[in-house]
Order: sequence, then C-alpha cells, then structure tokens
Amino acid sequence: MAETNNVVVLKSSRQLKGLFTIIRNRDTKREDFIFYSDRIIRLLIEEGLNCLPFEETTITTPTGAEYNGVSFASKICGVSIVRAGESMEAGLRAVCKHIKIGKILIQRDEETAMPKLLYAKLPNDIAKRHVLLLDPMLATGGTVTQAIEVLLERGVKEENIVFINLVAAPEGIKYFQDRHPKVKIVTGEIDERLNEKKYIMPGIGDFGDLYFGTN
Ligand code: URA
Repeated sequence: MAETNNVVVLKSSRQLKGLFTIIRNRDTKREDFIFYSDRIIRLLIEEGLNCLPFEETTITTPTGAEYNGVSFASKICGVSIVRAGESMEAGLRAVCKHIKIGKILIQRDEETAMPKLLYAKLPNDIAKRHVLLLDPMLATGGTVTQAIEVLLERGVKEENIVFINLVAAPEGIKYFQDRHPKVKIVTGEIDERLNEKKYIMPGIGDFGDLYFGTN
C-alpha cells in the first residue's frame, strides 16, 4: 500500500483492479456487486486494522520455541455512517469478533444544503476506543467531516480515528484533511474528480442503492 499525508491507498494489483472493474461496471448484476464489494471491503478492513497500535509480545509455539510477535494494544469499535456505511459492517464483524458498532445518520438539510446530524448511537465508552469509521464513498467530504465532529464531541481523539472507504475523490480528501488532518484515511482507489452532481468520476454511481437494491 502507498501512504502519504495520512492517506493509505490499498496496494494496486491486477487482483484488486479486477475487483474494482467488476463493481464499477454498470452491467454487473447486484449479487456480483455485493460479492465483489465485500471482497474489497474485507481488504480495506484488514488494512484499517493495520493502522492501529500494536505492542510487542513473545509467545511459545507448540514446538516449545519462542516467537516474537505483536498483539493489538487498544480497544476498538466500528461506526458506520448510515446508510451506505452499513454495507461495511459485515466485513468488520467477519474479522473482529463481537466488535461494538455504532451508527451515525447525517442528511443534507434541504434549506441550507449543509449536512445535518439526525441520529447517533455510539458505544458509551467510545472516548477510550480507537474508531474505524465506515462509509464507502468519499465524495465532497461534508458528511464524514460532520461524523468526525460527532465523534470528537463524544471525546474520541482525532488521531484514534481511521476512516475506511472504497473510493475517494481528491476534492473530498482535501476538504476532509483541511479540517481533520490527524484522521487516517484508508481507501481502495482515488478517482479523478467530482461531477456537477457531486458524484465521483469515473466512480461507481450510488453505492448504497447498488448494494441495497434500491436503484
Ligand atoms: N455517494 C455515492 O454513493 N456515490 C458517489 O459518487 C458520491 C457519493
């Protein structure tokens, strides 16, 4: 993977490119869209976990020899941004048994065009945890920025948040990092730009609609 300025992009490979080629294809059937998105999400979650603190530990193997390894050094939780972020919850649960997952719902206010918090349900002890924040598309960055502000109000440290998404627009990365430079972003691919409707180009389309079958 490549990392610059707190942005980690999954290492490009033909394997990963093949997965993105399927989910970006408008002719892909929904069951394949879900299956191959889930495969990318799994890779992203593993990379997100790699951004968390580890401590050195020595264990004994069945041969009686010592092995110098590492173990997780912090408590974690997930937070999904409803609705599209919920598509990433199963991938998180698949690798982190019993993980607590909070939810944040933010919608654009029709009058002000600003993102508005409608609902947040988070673990009570979230301030003591590292947070994996889930939302598949980083477009303008407005929604995720507001979600971070909710987490900061609850006492989470900015440097303890890892934001995981599949596809990011350069405009969204800039908007977000200008406000929250200590949050690490883990993404699958960085696209070219946003179009006039604020969709990512070449993009995927509306990820939530494709994943949940509401298109
Ligand atoms: N949300 C999406 O689902 N797709 C985009 O391109 C932008 C925001």
